[in-house]
Amino acid sequence: MTKTTIFLSFLLLLLGHANSKSQLNDKEQTVLLKLKQHWHNPPSLSHWHNPLSLSHLNSSHHCNWPEITCTSGTVTQLLLQNKNINQTVPPFIYDLKNLTVINLSNNFISQEFPKALYNCSKLEDLDLSQNYFNGTIPVDFHRLFGLRHLNLGANNFYGNIPASIGQLTELRTLQLFQCAFNGSFSPEIDNLFKLESLQLAYNVNMTAAELPSSFTELKKLKFLWITASNLNGKIPDTIGEMEALVHLDLSINNLTRKIPSSLFMPKNLSIVFLFRNQLSGEIPRVVEALNIDVIDLSDNKLTGSIPDDFGRLKNMTGTLAPDFGRYSMLVEFQVADNKLEGKLPEHLCDNGRLEAMVAYNNNITGQLPKSLGNCNGLKIVTVYNNRLSGDIPSGLWTSLNLRVLILSDNSFTGELPQRVARNLSRLEINNNFFSGTIPTGVSSWRNLVVFEASNNLFTGTIPRELTCLPHLTTLFLDQN
Ligand SMILES: *[C@@H]1O[C@H](CO)[C@@H](O)[C@H](O)[C@H]1NC(C)=O
Ligand SMILES: *[C@@H]1O[C@H](CO)[C@@H](O)[C@H](O)[C@H]1NC(C)=O
Ligand SMILES: *[C@@H]1O[C@H](CO)[C@@H](O)[C@H](O)[C@H]1NC(C)=O
Ligand SMILES: *[C@@H]1O[C@H](CO)[C@@H](O)[C@H](O)[C@H]1NC(C)=O
Ligand SMILES: *[C@@H]1O[C@H](CO)[C@@H](O)[C@H](O)[C@H]1NC(C)=O
Ligand SMILES: *[C@@H]1O[C@H](CO)[C@@H](O)[C@H](O)[C@H]1NC(C)=O
Ligand SMILES: *[C@@H]1O[C@H](CO)[C@@H](O)[C@H](O)[C@H]1NC(C)=O
Ligand SMILES: *[C@@H]1O[C@H](CO)[C@@H](O)[C@H](O)[C@H]1NC(C)=O
Ligand SMILES: *[C@@H]1O[C@H](CO)[C@@H](O)[C@H](O)[C@H]1NC(C)=O
Ligand SMILES: *[C@@H]1O[C@H](CO)[C@@H](O)[C@H](O)[C@H]1NC(C)=O
Ligand SMILES: *[C@@H]1O[C@H](CO)[C@@H](O)[C@H](O)[C@H]1NC(C)=O
Ligand SMILES: *[C@@H]1O[C@H](CO)[C@@H](O)[C@H](O)[C@H]1NC(C)=O
Repeated sequence: MTKTTIFLSFLLLLLGHANSKSQLNDKEQTVLLKLKQHWHNPPSLSHWHNPLSLSHLNSSHHCNWPEITCTSGTVTQLLLQNKNINQTVPPFIYDLKNLTVINLSNNFISQEFPKALYNCSKLEDLDLSQNYFNGTIPVDFHRLFGLRHLNLGANNFYGNIPASIGQLTELRTLQLFQCAFNGSFSPEIDNLFKLESLQLAYNVNMTAAELPSSFTELKKLKFLWITASNLNGKIPDTIGEMEALVHLDLSINNLTRKIPSSLFMPKNLSIVFLFRNQLSGEIPRVVEALNIDVIDLSDNKLTGSIPDDFGRLKNMTGTLAPDFGRYSMLVEFQVADNKLEGKLPEHLCDNGRLEAMVAYNNNITGQLPKSLGNCNGLKIVTVYNNRLSGDIPSGLWTSLNLRVLILSDNSFTGELPQRVARNLSRLEINNNFFSGTIPTGVSSWRNLVVFEASNNLFTGTIPRELTCLPHLTTLFLDQN
């Protein structure tokens, strides 16, 4: 025998040995290769080959394919997210009887819900998000009773969210956001007592309805996201009894009445988005949730004053949440567009971590909190159109990270500083009582793009330095 044939015989012997060890594995591999073929051999799966065929001697066993996870030699996970699959999920997928995880997220699959999955009786984790699945969610959906995590988000499912979902009592996460649902969501979701995350947001064609008050019986729920899904009526009074709540987002709905007095009670609550609703009345006084990072109550009809308790918050760190558009370019302390009166909380930046103070279009009085003068995380302060007065806390002008300072339409007094924060690009102080001269130090305001200071009490001449600022595009100094 030549070296090559010895090698080949040895290899075949090895493979043959592996083969005899597990006939079933071969059966599963046949199913996988059939899947690949059914999907018209997408390039993303070109490495799926039968390693036993002579032409693919150097391919690896299917349990080593990156998309496959095997447990004790049987296929348990099919991780096919982002594979450009544009064909259907075929019925024979249930021949992979031991699947516990299927991820087909972010493909181009267009069909109704593949009921064949009912036969994958060990399925715990199903992710079909970001495809073109359509039709209704079948009424016998409870046959997937073992599911712990379900994501059908960003598809074209329509109709109702069926009551049978309420029988999937092992569910920890339920994601049904951004679909074409045009019915109602089932109150039976309140049976899912193990649920930690419920995401129903951006179902914009949902029939207008109240948030079922029984949802507040979900004591393990940490994440509740129902933005822009036609909620109306009031927020259930018992919302504060959702003791595990961390992230509450009911923004962009038609919620009315008061914010329930218990809302800021869950101790771990960290994010509260209620912006763009029709909420009225006062903001609850009692805040037990001392780790809140972000509060956005903008664009409601709130009245009364901002509770002092907000000043006790310890962890106003602020995060960027670009998804939430203009309301959350920087989300921290946001109460803009209401009818709030009284003062801004004095201690909002005692820890020096606040990034944004956004309180424009209210009826707020008093001075800017002194703590803002020693708040180096601040990037944006927009408090225009209130009844604020007094001098600007001196440290604020030069606050290390400040980029936007909009103080227009108030009654602020004092003079402009020689120096401002290095990155300050927008300074708007129209319609106030600022006085003195425009300082010659203005030549150091290198990054200024917009400088609006109409209708104040400035005197003297406009320094030539102002016209030399390299980025300045807007300059208003009229009515001084
Ligand atoms: C489906 O995907 C394959 C590649 O995987 C591509 O060649 C084919 O054009 C796609 N078909 C459609 C209708 O997009
Ligand atoms: C062996 O592997 C190499 C690199 O992965 C590949 O280019 C080649 O086509 C494979 N040979 C066969 C017979 O599959
Ligand atoms: C599923 O796993 C069991 C052992 O857990 C095994 O006996 C059975 O053959 C596997 N089924 C398939 C289709 O591989
Ligand atoms: C599925 O894949 C997506 C995209 O990579 C990922 O975000 C998601 O967590 C995965 N889901 C499961 C259940 O593995
Ligand atoms: C489940 O499997 C059984 C037996 O193989 C088959 O008759 C049935 O049609 C399957 N169910 C679905 C929903 O595919
Ligand atoms: C779902 O989409 C497929 C493919 O686009 C289409 O043929 C089918 O009619 C749709 N079904 C429903 C119920 O909308
Ligand atoms: C919502 O309904 C409108 C009008 O019927 C339709 O044009 C739009 O595509 C629907 N949106 C979604 C996400 O289904
Ligand atoms: C929901 O949308 C589907 C598909 O567009 C339509 O056939 C059905 O009549 C709609 N149902 C309601 C209650 O509007
Ligand atoms: C709050 O969070 C901590 C730390 O994650 C956790 O141990 C605790 O159980 C949570 N409290 C509630 C009421 O869920
Ligand atoms: C609020 O309700 C009105 C009419 O009832 C509707 O036109 C509007 O789109 C709703 N707004 C939101 C954000 O759901
Ligand atoms: C604040 O945040 C830090 C880190 O994010 C965390 O360790 C701490 O427990 C939080 N709470 C308080 C009260 O500082
Ligand atoms: C602001 O408060 C003043 C004094 O209480 C009141 O006259 C005025 O109407 C309020 N403005 C708004 C927009 O609520």
